[in-house]
Amino acid sequence: MQIQIGQATLELVEGDITQQDTEAIVNAANPSLLGGGGVDGAIHRAGGPAILEECRKLGGCATGDAKITTGGRLRARYVIHAVGPVYRREGPTKAAQLLASAYRRSLEVATEHGVKSIAFPSISTGAYGYPMEEAAPIALQTVINFLEHQQDGIQLVRFVLYGQRAYAIYVQALQRIMAQRTVAN
Ligand code: APR
Repeated sequence: MQIQIGQATLELVEGDITQQDTEAIVNAANPSLLGGGGVDGAIHRAGGPAILEECRKLGGCATGDAKITTGGRLRARYVIHAVGPVYRREGPTKAAQLLASAYRRSLEVATEHGVKSIAFPSISTGAYGYPMEEAAPIALQTVINFLEHQQDGIQLVRFVLYGQRAYAIYVQALQRIMAQRTVAN
């Protein structure tokens, strides 16, 4: 599924974040930035040790923030390590704010580095326990708001959903957002 927001394209695909050819891919990291399972493990395995070597120099990353390293052996030039909230620890309201911040900071860091295309996983919806039906509209609305207000920065934001169920949830969330925008305009 693909939509246009200003000069930018927002697209949803089903696939593996480590295989994406965007300039940057976003990692669903933890505050240590020293690796883990899920997306984190896949990115470090595919990208190689150069990524962790740079992560070690970053001094960690706060929840809701994002930091950038080389993409190592990945097709992507950069990995932007974003730390999402642990849903049960933060509770729904704070978790929503921190999740939105993780996406926004990733886009800000990408823009600071002149990145024109970026791929996101569904941050916090795995080990961090964020219900995907709640996370998807927050993630999509945050990205849409950013793309609507940026000055000729990012041209492509791709959500890379792992499996058919995740993809379907994001498609439904995006369709609902677009329907509301149509009514609003
Ligand atoms: N490509 C795209 N999406 C993936 C991939 C992949 N290769 N592997 C897993 N996912 C999906 C999961 O299905 C989930 O929907 O990414 C989403 C995020 O899951 P996690 O990787 O578990 O990330 P998160 O929930 O943010 O938890 C972060 O897990 O791996 C550790 O070090 C990490 O402590 C941190 C925590």
